[in-house]
Amino acid sequence: MKTTTGVLTAALIMVLALAFSAQGADPNYVGAGKCKICHMSKKKGAQYGAWQASKHSKAFETLGTPAAKEAAAKAGVSGNPQEAAECLKCHVTGSDAPAERKAGKYNVADGVTCESCHGPGENYASMKVMRDREASVAAGLIIPTVETCKSCHNEKSPTFKDFVCAERWAKIVHDNPATEGGGTLQGCK
Ligand code: HEC
Ligand code: HEC
Ligand code: HEC
Ligand code: HEC
Repeated sequence: MKTTTGVLTAALIMVLALAFSAQGADPNYVGAGKCKICHMSKKKGAQYGAWQASKHSKAFETLGTPAAKEAAAKAGVSGNPQEAAECLKCHVTGSDAPAERKAGKYNVADGVTCESCHGPGENYASMKVMRDREASVAAGLIIPTVETCKSCHNEKSPTFKDFVCAERWAKIVHDNPATEGGGTLQGCK
């Protein structure tokens, strides 16, 4: 009887420890294909289509061009830019995260995806959570500000061009006409 209790207690502790470690772990990336399921209707602003039409979706492809070779040479980066950490950090999503955190529909070739700006979706990308903005933010959804843009659009980019936020945001805005007050980029001038 005593041993059974002991074993059960040990098992319970292990289950709790696992639950806590899972909760504390960084959420996984789920891929733009997952967001697409709920964010492609015109009525709600077709965010997926807007992203696909933007240069962000081509950011990995760009690293395979002659222009990228040139930029890499200037920056003193040797080898294939599509495999160089120095380039990938701004041209793909979650380049610093280990492979185990890239789950579901994550695809490196998708370049700078929704999750580059809105954060990894594992814990918020479900209908139950997403319907509630506060719950989404608590589950890791990032409401980006101009600082999010500047984490990549800065002088460390070998092809940096002045970042005038209002002009740039106008090119990638993906407002949901059905919501009040959304689609405003904080600090953007
Ligand atoms: C199962 C459906 C579903 C999936 C999958 C989903 N969303 Fe959503 N999302 C919603 C709903 C519902 C809303 C609330 C607004 C609306 O009705 O469109 C929302 C709102 C949002 C908002 C607006 C938050 C605000 O209040 O400003 C963002 C940003 C967002 N989603 C990003 C994402 C991203 C990024 C992904 C993929 C990682 C994703 N969503 C996946 C259903 C979903
Ligand atoms: C994870 C890095 C990253 C973040 C964050 C980011 N960008 Fe970009 N952005 C890029 C890269 C890389 C390109 C170049 C893509 C290409 O040409 O292949 C780019 C290109 C663009 C372009 C196309 C160039 C042009 O002017 O026509 C616009 C517009 C743009 N970004 C706006 C923004 C805005 C606005 C934000 C913030 C809301 C933002 N970006 C956040 C990396 C990022
Ligand atoms: C600090 C973030 C950052 C890093 C690091 C970075 N890039 Fe970029 N890259 C960008 C952004 C942002 C753009 C979009 C340029 C714009 O419109 O201002 C871009 C655009 C480009 C372009 C398109 C040309 C253009 O002028 O739009 C090429 C080619 C490119 N990058 C190659 C590279 C290569 C090769 C590396 C690695 C040696 C690299 N980048 C590293 C952020 C970065
Ligand atoms: C370059 C950064 C960036 C990328 C990439 C990006 N977003 Fe956004 N998104 C923003 C910013 C900035 C806002 C405005 C702040 C806000 O109100 O949420 C926004 C707003 C939204 C909203 C709320 C719109 C509203 O009017 O309520 C939704 C939904 C959304 N994004 C979904 C997506 C989805 C889905 C993807 C990928 C298919 C995506 N976003 C890609 C930066 C980005």
